[in-house]
Formats: sequence, C-alpha cells, structure tokens
Amino acid sequence: MFNQKNVAFASEEQVYYPDISFSARANVRDARIYDWAGMDYEGFWAEEAKKLHWYKTWDKVLEWQSPFAQWFVGGKLNACVNCVDRHLDGWRRNKAAIIFEGEPGDQVVLTYQDLHREVSKFANVLKSLGVVKGDVVTIYMPMIPEAVIAMLACARIGAPHSLVFGGFSAEALRDRIKDAEARVVITSDACWRRGKAIPLKQNVDAALAQCSSVEKVVVVQRTGSEVYMEPGRDLWYHELMKNAPIVCEPEIMDAEDILFVLYTSGTTGKPKGIVHTTGGYLTSVTSTHRNIFDLKEDDVYWCTADIGWITGHSYLVYGPLANGATVFIYEGAPDYPERDRFWELIEKYRVTLFYTAPTAIRLFMKWGESYPAGRDLSSLRLLGSVGEPINPEAWLWYHKHIGRERCPIVDTWWQTETGSVMIAPLPGLVPTKPGSATIPMPGVFVDVVDELGEPVKAGESGYLVVKKPWPSMLRTVYKDPQRYVDTYWSRFEGMYFTGDGARRDKDGYIWVLGRVDDVINVSGHRIGTAEVESALVEHPAVAEAAVIGRSHELKGQAVSAFITLREGIAWSPELEKDLKNHVAKKIGGLARPEEIICTWELPKTRSGKIMRRLLKDIAEGRVLGDTTTLADPAVIDQLMKQRVSLKE
Ligand code: WTA
Repeated sequence: MFNQKNVAFASEEQVYYPDISFSARANVRDARIYDWAGMDYEGFWAEEAKKLHWYKTWDKVLEWQSPFAQWFVGGKLNACVNCVDRHLDGWRRNKAAIIFEGEPGDQVVLTYQDLHREVSKFANVLKSLGVVKGDVVTIYMPMIPEAVIAMLACARIGAPHSLVFGGFSAEALRDRIKDAEARVVITSDACWRRGKAIPLKQNVDAALAQCSSVEKVVVVQRTGSEVYMEPGRDLWYHELMKNAPIVCEPEIMDAEDILFVLYTSGTTGKPKGIVHTTGGYLTSVTSTHRNIFDLKEDDVYWCTADIGWITGHSYLVYGPLANGATVFIYEGAPDYPERDRFWELIEKYRVTLFYTAPTAIRLFMKWGESYPAGRDLSSLRLLGSVGEPINPEAWLWYHKHIGRERCPIVDTWWQTETGSVMIAPLPGLVPTKPGSATIPMPGVFVDVVDELGEPVKAGESGYLVVKKPWPSMLRTVYKDPQRYVDTYWSRFEGMYFTGDGARRDKDGYIWVLGRVDDVINVSGHRIGTAEVESALVEHPAVAEAAVIGRSHELKGQAVSAFITLREGIAWSPELEKDLKNHVAKKIGGLARPEEIICTWELPKTRSGKIMRRLLKDIAEGRVLGDTTTLADPAVIDQLMKQRVSLKE
C-alpha cells in the first residue's frame, strides 16, 4: 500500500528553526512540557481543564472503558459561559470578540458584551420556540456572525447543535436533519458569493418537504432575497430578536453532556454523526488554540474555514472565544472583487494569525505572488495550515510570499473525530520541515504502525493511530455506538485508527500521506466514495459506478467516476453533464465528479470486487499495477484507450 518506504523526502532535510525573538515570547517555552504530559497525561489535561470556568470540578479526570471514554467525570460547566460570560468581568468585555466583513464590504464588530447580549437573546428565542436541553438544533448558515450567535445560544441552553455546511444540497441537508431528528432549523435567506446571492432557505424548504420532525425554521435576513415563508413554521430572526429578553441563565451542563453533533463522510454511504461532549472538547480546543497559535491578548486571528466544518467549530468559535480572542470572520470568496481580497483584509484589519488550507494556498500560488506583494502583510506573525497534507512547494510559497520569511508555519493534523489538533509544532519550540505536521501535541499519543499494529521504524510508512484517549475525542457515532466501535477501534487492538497513512522520519517527525480508506479529500473536504457511487447509481441511466480520488494540482484530490450504463442508453457529453449535476444535487457541489468515464465493464477481480487501485492508476496516468487478478483484461485495454482521450 505504501510505496514511499525508505525513500527520504527532499524536504525532510530542510529544517526551519523558530526565530529566537519569537521563541523568547512564545506561550510555551519549556520543552519539558512534552515529558510531563507524556508521563502523566491525565494530570496534564486536568491542569489545562482548570483554566476553564467550572461550576463544579470533576471527581475523576478519566473513566476509560475502552473504547468509551468519559473525561472530567462529574464536572459541571457551560461552554457558552466559557466563551462569553467569563470575559465580562474585566476590561475584555469591551474587546472585539468578532470582527466581521461581508463580501459586499459591510462590517460588524461585536464586543464580548455585545456577543453576550445577542447570544442571551437568541437563547431566549430558542427557548420560546420550545427548544429544551438535549434537543438537537440544525444550523444551515453562511459565514455571518449570526451563525456563531446561534451555536453559542444552543450551547447556553444545552441544546446540541448540528451544523450542515452551506454548500451541501437540500438532500444532504434532509438526511442530516432526519438523522438528528431536529425540531428547529436555523438558516438565512441566502449568502453572498462572488456578487451573487446563493440561496439557502430554498434548500431548507426542499429538505423539509420530506422531514416531519421540524416544527420551526428561523431565518436570518442576509441578502434580502425573496424567500417563501411558511405560515406557522418559518420565522424571521430579526423579528424574534426584537422583543427577546436580554437575560438568559445558562444551563449547568455535565462535562459529558453533548455539545454538538457534526456529520462527516465515512467509508459507507451514510454520513456519520460525530458526537462531541462539553468538558473534554472545550479543554482540548482551548489549550491547543492558545499553544499552537501562540495567542496573545492583542492578536487578530483569522481562520478561513467554514463554520460548517470541524475547523470552524474548534478554531473559529470554541477555542478562540474561550481564550477571549478577537476573531475575524469573512463571508465570501477569496477572488472577489479581486484576487487579493484576503491580503486586502489582512492589511485592513492588521490580522496577526492566519489559518487556512493547502488547497487555498495552491490557488494563491497559481494566481501569482503579485497579489500578496501589493499589500502590507507586516502584521502577520504566524501562519497555519489544515485539512490535507501540504506539499513542500506550497509550504515554501506560503512561507516566502505570505509569511515573508518571518512567520512560523504550524501545519496542524487532526480530524472531525479528534475534535482538536493532534500533530503540530509548538511554534516557539519545534523546528519545522515543509510538508510535515511535525510531532504529536503534548498529552497526545499518536503513532505510526504496521499491519500488525507494531510501530514502524524510522523512514518507514504505516497507519496513523492514537494509542491513548484524549479529552476532545469523539465519544460515539450519534445513535450508532456499534459503528463507532467498528469504524475506529476494530482495525488495531486497543488503538484508534485514523484512516490515514503516514511515514515517520529519522527525527521522529510524522509525514501524513493521506487517507488509506475510501474517503476522498477534495480541497480539504471529506467525501465518501460510497456516497458518490450511490448517488450515481440512483440515476436511471447508470448500471454500476466506481468512484476514486485522483491527485489534482489544486484540489489535492478530485472525484473521478467510472460507470457502466444500463442497456439501451447511449453515452453523450450531455449525459455526462447531467450525471455531474445529479451528484451535485444529491450531495453538493463539492462532490461533483471532475470527470466521468463510461466503460462497458468495470475492472473486477474474478470474485467480483472492483479493482479501484487500477482505476486510480488509470486516472492518474500511471503504469498499471498488478493486473493478473482481473477477470477480463480487455476492460483495461479499453479504459487505457479512454485515458488517452481523457488527457486531450
Ligand atoms: C486530512 C479536518 C495532512 C487527513 C481538520 C484527515 C490532513 C482528514 C491535515 C480529516 C494535515 C487534515 N496534514 N492531512 N495537516 N489535516 N488532514 O475531518 O486525511 O475534515 O484524516 O478534519 O483530513 O478531515 P476533517
């Protein structure tokens, strides 16, 4: 499976040491943190947890009945209080919590005091709609302050939120609402994207046509687009907020009460509801955010991830706000109105910490360095990367043209399931190598193991696993604990399997190679091959489908589909377009196949298994691997011919 064995990466030898002046002021300066945390990880995490506000401290740090964990057992807290109320006592109450700029250029600044008021009011609105502790609320919203307000309001009253990325289709939204059995959905009329109003409420209407659980829909007016409002069901946010009372007592939550559910793609067709709880999650995200981003009181922190993904949850909302940071939020596209919009925003708001994804960096690289060069980026002091392996070229470009060779880069490896960053450099301590997320965080036990679960030697590749529980680990799959056990804890005895492959170098640095399961990472977004396949075979023209991720210059990976048609159906460019649209409609634009290759038979083994490995070789233009187990070698000949036409 891993062909990189014993091959040194060129960038492995390229080491960037932390700048002395940065290290001298860094939040974490003592390298012994790794030893303490390694010797007593429960003690380490308990110290981190103490930095939060608790109504009652825990009786026991960790209850581990493998693979089910409880952290800070018996502890009581509220996530919203930690993110908002506790900053009101001192001068921070007048500090900007959120600085927002919309795509058209409109601005909103909310101080912690403002945020407290808006969140409390909206929490009362939710209560007035009948939401009680334990009810799941679905949030389908763009990148606007109301999305953060909605999340925190849910946390305040103990209602787990379930965010659905605004780019998901009505059908994907419907499935997630159904699984969560949400009674309330929060959305907006539309959002701005490259000057156009992209509808959201319309998708909610379509989703709800097939969902019986939903009683109320709250609609934020963002673009002013005309929307249908169903009498008795749909309510305007601004009208509800007008008279909402300003005081809302927070619910006292158990450390293990659910904070949120977030759906993510897995290896089977149905997305999994990843469950995160309150105490452990908040402890990990707050601690890692402070340490990895070296957060200081006067920083302006910008995370470009959408709020609908885990990065948005952990490092746009909970981690930074629990730390009392100033968070910058931008609604729109990076190339609107010009390709220097991001750099313009950094210049304008004097952003100091910038966290984005390799796919975006590659796009900026393609556009050229003249865009950042024309802007003053001197405020930046640290850069972050997340979502997929960052190729060394992109790392070096980021370092040179954005960081201007001054800013450390923190490449952060983690997952929806891990809740917080697991592998990343502490920027004042750990030398970086372009393309490696470096070493595990203190108190986190990540390893690279072979098929048998034994650690691989330096220079070798294997599977990325976690060997001990950590506070922000997923607790289960929503309503499906067996799936939790099967997916994550069955591949290796007593270890959490991440689904990623990785390589360990001679210095113990980890180089994540990407997914080894049937998950495709398109522009940092996870898509299950099975989801796309089932969408394709639902189309009346398609008999069979096999979907793979092939490497793509900008997106990291692209969805490549191979299909066979039903009897009597002819292949045409129109049908290809129709199928692509069909997938986008079923799942969302992010899953739209880059290409669809029609063949008369898919390559299969004699026992009937589709040989995806060969399809990947074909799509990536490689010399084919072993074809001896093929039932019908002629299939490959035909696909190879098509590959030539694909290239043209
Ligand atoms: C990939 C996003 C290499 C990985 C936070 C993981 C990465 C999946 C990195 C999780 C990184 C994320 N280097 N690969 N720094 N960060 N990944 O759940 O394959 O959307 O398993 O969480 O993204 O994606 P998810």
